[in-house]
This record gives sequence, C-alpha cells and structure tokens, in this order.
Amino acid sequence: MYIDQMGREELEHWHQIFCEKHKAFRASSLNLDLTRGKPSTRQLDLSNILDGATKGSYITSEGIDSRNYGHLAGLPEMRSLGAELLGVAKNEVIVGGSSSLSMMYLAMLFAWQFGVSGKGSSWRDQGKVKFLCPVPGYDRHFSICEEFGIEMIRVSMDEDGPNMDQVEAFIANDKSIKGIWCVPKYSNPTGCIYSQNTIERLAKLGKISSPDFRIFYDNAYAVHDLSEDGIDLPKIMDYCREHNTQNNVLQFTSTSKITFAGSGVSFLAASEENLNVIQQHLGVFCIGPDKVNQLRHLNFIQDRSGLKLHMKKHAKLLQPKFSSVLEHLKNNFEGSDLAQWTTPKGGYFISFDTRPGLADSVIELAAEAGVKLTPAGATFPYGLDPDNKNIRLAPSFPSLDDIDRAMRVFCNSVKLASIKQKIGV
Ligand SMILES: Cc1ncc(COP(=O)(O)O)c(C=O)c1O
Repeated sequence: MYIDQMGREELEHWHQIFCEKHKAFRASSLNLDLTRGKPSTRQLDLSNILDGATKGSYITSEGIDSRNYGHLAGLPEMRSLGAELLGVAKNEVIVGGSSSLSMMYLAMLFAWQFGVSGKGSSWRDQGKVKFLCPVPGYDRHFSICEEFGIEMIRVSMDEDGPNMDQVEAFIANDKSIKGIWCVPKYSNPTGCIYSQNTIERLAKLGKISSPDFRIFYDNAYAVHDLSEDGIDLPKIMDYCREHNTQNNVLQFTSTSKITFAGSGVSFLAASEENLNVIQQHLGVFCIGPDKVNQLRHLNFIQDRSGLKLHMKKHAKLLQPKFSSVLEHLKNNFEGSDLAQWTTPKGGYFISFDTRPGLADSVIELAAEAGVKLTPAGATFPYGLDPDNKNIRLAPSFPSLDDIDRAMRVFCNSVKLASIKQKIGV
C-alpha cells in the first residue's frame, strides 16, 4: 500500500475499512500486552531445576562456604564463566547480585560521587556532565542518566552500531562527555550487532576522550541467539589492550534472561585498576554477594557448552514468536510507504518505525482496541522521540495466539493512523 500515491477518494475508502476493523477490535474487548521484554513462563520453567541445585552441598570445589560472608568479587568459578562471557581475564570480573542494571547504577553512582580515579575526580564536581546515547536505545539506561542530572546527547544508531563518526566528533570536541551507553549484541530495541569496526573504534575512544570517559558496555544479550548461526562478538577488551585504553570500558551482563529474571547472577568486567576502585566502594556497600545463588547457577549452567545448550531451548520458544511478528509486518507493510522495521537474529525486541509523527497515535489506537504497547518516546532520552515514529515491540512474554491477535490490532492501528494523518481527520 502506497498512500502517497493515492487520491482522496481511495484514501477515504481505506479509511472507512480500517475504521470498521478498529471498531470490531474494540468490540471484542481484548486485553493484550506487547510492552516489556520479559521471559515467558515457559522460558522461566527451563530453569526450575535451579530450585535445589545446591543439593544441600554449599561448599564449592575450591572449598569456599557459599553460605558465609566474604568473597566480594564472587565465587572464583563464576568469575571464570563471566570472563568467558565478556571476553576478559578472570581477575577482571566481579560477580554480583541478581541485577546488572543495579551494577550499572552503582558504577554510575561511584563515578558521580567519588570519581573513577581517586580523590578529586568525582563527576559531580566537574560542572556539566554528558553521556552519549545511541537511539533508539534502552529506556532504563536513560533513566539512570536522568536521575543523576547527566545531560544526554542523542547519536544515531546504524545497522552496525552507533554512528561512530558522530560519536568521535562529539567526544573529540567536548571533554564534559564522560560516557556512552552501548548494547553491543542484539541491541535493545533494534537488535543490531555491532561490527568489528565499530567495536574497535569504540575501544579507541579513550585516545581522544577525557581520561575519565567510560563506555558502559551492556552485553545483556551476549548468548541470546535465535538461530544456530549466532556469532560471538569480537572482544572489546582485546582492542583496548592494543590501544592501551583498558580503563575506558566497563562491561556488564547477567543471567536474567538465561535463568530467572530478577533472581539471576550479574557480572561486571573491567580493568584491574577500575575493579580495585570499584571494590573499595563496593566493600562499604555490602559484605559480599549472594554466593549461594552463584553456586546453584554454577551447578546448573556448569560451563560455556552447558550454557549454549540451555540457550537453544530458549531460542526454540522465542523463535516462533519473533517469526509471527515479522510475518505480520511483512504481510501488511512490505513494499509499502507506511513502516520500516528491524529483523533481529536474537535478543528480545523488534524496533518499528511508523511514518514520522505517528507513534503516539498508533499506540493510542492500539490501546483503544485492547493492545498495550511501550509508550511512544520510551526508547529515547527524556522520553522524547523527535520524529515521534519509533515503537518497541516485545514478543517474548505473550503466547503465540496472543501475539497473533495483538499484531492484527497493531497493523490495523498503523494503517488507520497513517491514513488519518494523510487525509487530516
Ligand atoms: C539492555 C538491557 N540491559 C539490562 C537489562 C536488565 O538486566 P538485569 O535484569 O540484569 O538488571 C535489560 C532488560 O531488559 C536490558 O534490555
């Protein structure tokens, strides 16, 4: 459907058809939700074996009593697994509690309050502090910046990661830029995978940035491939070592979407120098992490190949849901002038763009018809999408039937909003 090529009469004809469909959806009292990227119950069930995975034995193979205080950096075996996941050495990993987002928050808090390199380096004492935010991006990253009063600068997201020309130009010209948010694999929400060139250019940013610049490299979807041909990302820390910028990157991940969301294990990887600074503050914040949870995860996941096998089971449940959404989008919008969308090979989201100025109307129409979508603007700093066109679709939680019904409503809402805008009603 090309609405730019339609005359008034044809537009009005389609307007009536989409309005009638909308009315019928409204009358059917749906109550569907395509908002947050949560694992489904069946995905969570894949890890139920965690319950009791310690089998009453709390002493690790290295003789650590996981029930007791201490071991601020986490169980050594778990540090090894984190090192493999994030492509660093074992002594460059801290294993924490159940949320990587809270580790990011803490890293920001420590930098803000105490600085990243000792006395006199706190970000809060440096006047204006800014962060680069590739858009569309993850709303909760932006909320952290907003909470600290850190000014967020949008940079565009290309197919192979943030637009590095923009990133380098900003950083070279403005030393108040202290960081950038990155989700390098199956980025939230576009699903893009950073290219080797992007990762190497990110690793070189420390050469042109302020010395206390930090890349918040959130590898939340490191092993969340939908198909067999998932790739391992080039290791950013290897490039950092080449360019002597190891201190400029902080990496994060967790098992939230591997085992239980909110009851998993989180990881922070950084240079030893950075970890020493972070651990000084972490040691005041807590006496040690939940090592019993770490141990049961270790017993369950075992190693990298155990993890791969487990993630295949997730993919088997997720893949049909992504396919269903993409099939609806293809059938309704391929070859049209109504929409563009991404086709991720993993992760939790599909990013959808309406014609400019329509995201909020589409979301409102879908809500009227009983389908809840992520609020317009959520994928942008301050909740402001300047083109009002991006919508994040999250197919993981609803059942296949519900996705099918929700997508019928969604596609009709996009068509109706587009025609309404075109004819000005
Ligand atoms: C990019 C990204 N990072 C972090 C998280 C949250 O991670 P955690 O549960 O470990 O706090 C999410 C959850 O949706 C996410 O999409």
